[in-house]
This record gives sequence, structure tokens and C-alpha cells, in this order.
Amino acid sequence: MPSIDDFIAGLVRIPEREFTVPAVSRYMVDHRVDPASLEKYLFYEPTHYTRNLIYKGDLFELLAVCWEAGQYSPVHNHQGQSCWMAVPIGRLAVQNYALVRSDDQGFCELRPADRLVMDPAHPAFVDPEEPIHAVLNLPEYGQRATSLHVYSKPYDRCLVYAPEQNAYWEVPLFYDSEYGRRTPRTINASPGSAPGSAGRR
Ligand SMILES: [Fe+2]
Repeated sequence: MPSIDDFIAGLVRIPEREFTVPAVSRYMVDHRVDPASLEKYLFYEPTHYTRNLIYKGDLFELLAVCWEAGQYSPVHNHQGQSCWMAVPIGRLAVQNYALVRSDDQGFCELRPADRLVMDPAHPAFVDPEEPIHAVLNLPEYGQRATSLHVYSKPYDRCLVYAPEQNAYWEVPLFYDSEYGRRTPRTINASPGSAPGSAGRR
């Protein structure tokens, strides 16, 4: 079982032209990270899930996201960037959504699509054809979870959707820690900053 350092070293060795959805998905399946090697990057918060930067380069960034039981991401997408996820600790659901229609004024209509479950044996990636999703540490899982997210390329904004309001908007993204150190507390001014709400993904 590779350490997180070994996992990063292997990712860095993948040439940019080969950094494709299937190739990186295969890498995630073949390289399950040793949870013990993640310890310094894990910061759980009772009020929101946390985004913890582990590595950032020109081609990709790697985050550990820490979820208490019952914490959810907002519905969001990654603005055309690729995203791969693995769950070395616990279990998480991914709820996908289909975009029925939208305009460029912040209106949208979404329909829930498939839901899948990720755990240490089952990583996942965001389908480029259907990129709108939410990640949920469902209360019935009854445990913390940590997911690893590879984003290519790195980016600092995403679109957040409120399906019940038929609305979407862009939010800036923040790190709760960088390279194992807490960042100054970021204030989340976006609408609905309930646990695991806007400004995160
Ligand atoms: Fe996501």
C-alpha cells in the first residue's frame, strides 16, 4: 500500500498527454493510499467539511477532504476540469445530477441522476459528460470519512447549484490547511453557509 508521498510521486511521473480520465482512474484503482500516511493532512471540523491541500503543481492538485458523519458538499461542478476521487477512510456517496436547462443569468433546472458509493476499494471520477454532483457522508454511515481529490488542472472557483431554488452561482474556493498546516480561518460569505455548504466542493 503506497504512502501519500509515493502516490504523488507516481502521479507526477504521468506525462501531461497521458493524464487522461481513464489513465488516472486506473492509477487510482491500482494505488490505494495508506491511510496512516495521511495523518498530518487531516483536520475535521464539526461545522463544515475541510479542504486540505497536499500537493499543487501546474498539471494537478491533490486535496484531502475531511468529512464528519452527516456533512455534505453543495451541488457543484468543476468548470470543465477533471476530478478523480478515492476514499481511503470511511465511505461517501456521490449524487450526480443532470442539467435539464439553464441560462447565463443564474437560472438552472436539475434532475437527480445516479448515485454511487465510494469506499477504499471503489474510487470514482467525475463524468465529463455529466459533471454536476454532490458528495455526501450520509448520517447512516456513522463515521468520519476522508477523500482524496485529484483536480486537473488546479482551479480556485466552481459553480454551486441550489436545485430547490433553480439557481446557480460561482464561488471562490479555500483551503482549510496547506501542506499540513492550518490556514487562517476563511470566512464563507456565500448564501447558505450551513455545514458543508457554499464555497466548497
Ligand atoms: Fe466535486
